[in-house]
Amino acid sequence: MIKNITQAIAFAPATSANMIVGFDILGFALNDVGDEVTLIKRSDGQIVIDSIESEQELPLISSKNTASIVIQKVCADFRIDCGFSLRIKKGIAIGSGMGGSAASAVAALVAFNHFLEVPLSNEQLVHYALFGEELASGGKHADNVAPCIYGGVTLTRSIDPIDIIKLPTPELQCIVIHPHLVVETKAARGILKPDVAMKNYVMQSANLAGFMAALYTKDIGLLKRSLNDVVIEPQRAHLVPGFYPVKEIALNAGALACSFSGSGPSMFALSETVREAHEIAAKMIEGFEQFGIKTDWWISPISNNGAHVK
Ligand code: HSE
Repeated sequence: MIKNITQAIAFAPATSANMIVGFDILGFALNDVGDEVTLIKRSDGQIVIDSIESEQELPLISSKNTASIVIQKVCADFRIDCGFSLRIKKGIAIGSGMGGSAASAVAALVAFNHFLEVPLSNEQLVHYALFGEELASGGKHADNVAPCIYGGVTLTRSIDPIDIIKLPTPELQCIVIHPHLVVETKAARGILKPDVAMKNYVMQSANLAGFMAALYTKDIGLLKRSLNDVVIEPQRAHLVPGFYPVKEIALNAGALACSFSGSGPSMFALSETVREAHEIAAKMIEGFEQFGIKTDWWISPISNNGAHVK
């Protein structure tokens, strides 16, 4: 069942969840930025984190890391008892809203998959990666793990049973601005009201449908009109000082859309060209400076590539 290899290395890209109108169901993959996991076969049955290369200090405790927890689960289910050591390289800052917990879990699973004679399907990878998301945020949502595995833009129609639809990948640039603030996903979820007003439900459904149509017809005008969140963003905006002014700055600078990346605190904006993306990024950074907030930033095309073995 397991191949006669000793190690595998996999890369999993950063992702941005929600995509404004698809809370918990839409997400997209970025290029180049991501996490890398090396999985090394052991013989003592242990799942051990050997090392984590990261700008932030992270514990080497297997039960607290999304990469090791998913390997524990998949090994237990498939009765693979050799054990593995994990070496994790974090390219994604923790709490940056770029799917760092998902990327570590997915990279570990894709590396694990390379050991199998009969590899797991993408749906199975999503199933196991969700255990990592549950550990990280207290809930199972596939809006980061799905684009991380499939690449491009994904729609999670259901997680039980797993039903992921890969949507057309628009040729757009994404600007991610990470303000140096801490907003835990658990907390950003905890403040959300359990009910949605009928009027907002209708507007959000119309925008989600408009966005789907825009992806299939490559209608940038429709995409721009549709990327407007009337349900989640208004409830979370207060978590980031300067959220609305910075959003306005981005839109005035020519962004097609701008909102939270995942549960924040990072914001993302979309543009048609790299030049516009740089202009928008510079203005958003300046905007946050006016609120005394430092930022990191990234510019990347929406990428059609998901996690892969290196
Ligand atoms: N969809 C989630 C949220 C973020 O907005 O809470 C995914 O990590």
